[in-house]
Amino acid sequence: MLSQKTMDIIKATAPVLEVTGTEITTKFYQMLFDAHPELLNIFNHTNQKQGRQQTALANAVYAAAVNIERLEAILPAVGKIAHKHRSLGVKPEHYPVVGEFLLKAIKEVLQDGATEEILQAWAEAYGVIADVFISLEKEMYKEAEAIEGGWNGFKEFIITKKVEESSVITSFYLKPADKSALPSYLPGQYITVQLQIPGENYTQNRQYSLSSAYTPDYYRISVKREDEQDPNGTVSPYLHTNLLEGDSIFVSVPAGDFYIDVNDQAPITLISGGVGVTPMYSMLESITQQNSARPVTFIHAARSQAVHAFAKEVAALADSLQNGKSYVVYEQGDNVSDFTGYLTPEILKQIVDQQSSFYVCGPVPFMKAVINALAEIGVPAEQVHYEFFGPAIAI
Ligand code: HEM
Repeated sequence: MLSQKTMDIIKATAPVLEVTGTEITTKFYQMLFDAHPELLNIFNHTNQKQGRQQTALANAVYAAAVNIERLEAILPAVGKIAHKHRSLGVKPEHYPVVGEFLLKAIKEVLQDGATEEILQAWAEAYGVIADVFISLEKEMYKEAEAIEGGWNGFKEFIITKKVEESSVITSFYLKPADKSALPSYLPGQYITVQLQIPGENYTQNRQYSLSSAYTPDYYRISVKREDEQDPNGTVSPYLHTNLLEGDSIFVSVPAGDFYIDVNDQAPITLISGGVGVTPMYSMLESITQQNSARPVTFIHAARSQAVHAFAKEVAALADSLQNGKSYVVYEQGDNVSDFTGYLTPEILKQIVDQQSSFYVCGPVPFMKAVINALAEIGVPAEQVHYEFFGPAIAI
């Protein structure tokens, strides 16, 4: 328990963090990786290069600091982060290391502003915040091992099949090398895959949504090939080009808090942009298998027909539902989509049931546009759920 004085110092200095937060966390990561390069085996190097992880960590620490007297307010955000930490193998022993360098970075950026008293207060507050993460993650590690077929850390899988779903998206069917049955997951959850790419000094980890309903036989992910010149294009070109059927890949137990309750009967609207279709497909397929009377509206936006994955499959699944509807919006004009251009508030107003719950996944600009559009047509924010690609920076 923090003393009142400590909490007062934290609250008084939190606004400084809001202004200098990203500067502090950028410095923090530089110092952390200089001293502990082995941690680059856990962190996503692309997120680092683009500053996304720095912003995410700064936002999280700031949110924790302003809520220091009632940390329960940030528990939903902690849950999302803890899922990711668990899927990547972040352990209790990593927390003091991160804490040490976070304090060093605060000191270096704030200089004379960082008095001993302030640093002491932040050290104590970090300890309390870290404990919240550590205890939640401890439970998650236990669950990952206790679930039928579960395991600890990363396990070897074999790519048994690759299927081209569009000109840019390929599905990978993954089976455990030891041929064991697979733990179940909730539609919308993801796995972390770990790769050792030749020529790279550290392992690369990426999260990919599971793109089919659960089956004990395989996990399926569907990956968009990013351009090799793009900062995001390290892992996906390697997966697409170099990894072949029969090759191994390492996988951790499914994770994530973006999922639906398949037994719920209430109307649901699934909206995706581009490769954001992957968790939506898993949700749609799960509903058709387990709850086919549920009213479902599936909306997908893609640049064009050529890059549109699962077009036929989605249409067939929506048809098999008693109350299923599916719509396609292509940015580039043609006469095969239901709408051309962007998914606007006008289109949404025309086709969605505003009482339904909404699940949205896609690139950040798409998500921003859809979330704003839903607000504009009067859908309350509590009905809207979304999943980001990459670290959850503020929308
Ligand atoms: C991801 C916060 C401790 C490793 C994240 C994210 C946040 C965050 C906000 C982004 C979540 C997302 O992707 O949606 C924190 C806070 C911590 C903490 C507040 C301390 C209280 C740690 C520790 C480690 C760690 C001790 C391990 C050394 C990671 C990694 C990611 C991540 C590897 C994935 C993102 C990437 O690779 O770019 N954390 N974290 N974190 N965190 Fe932490």
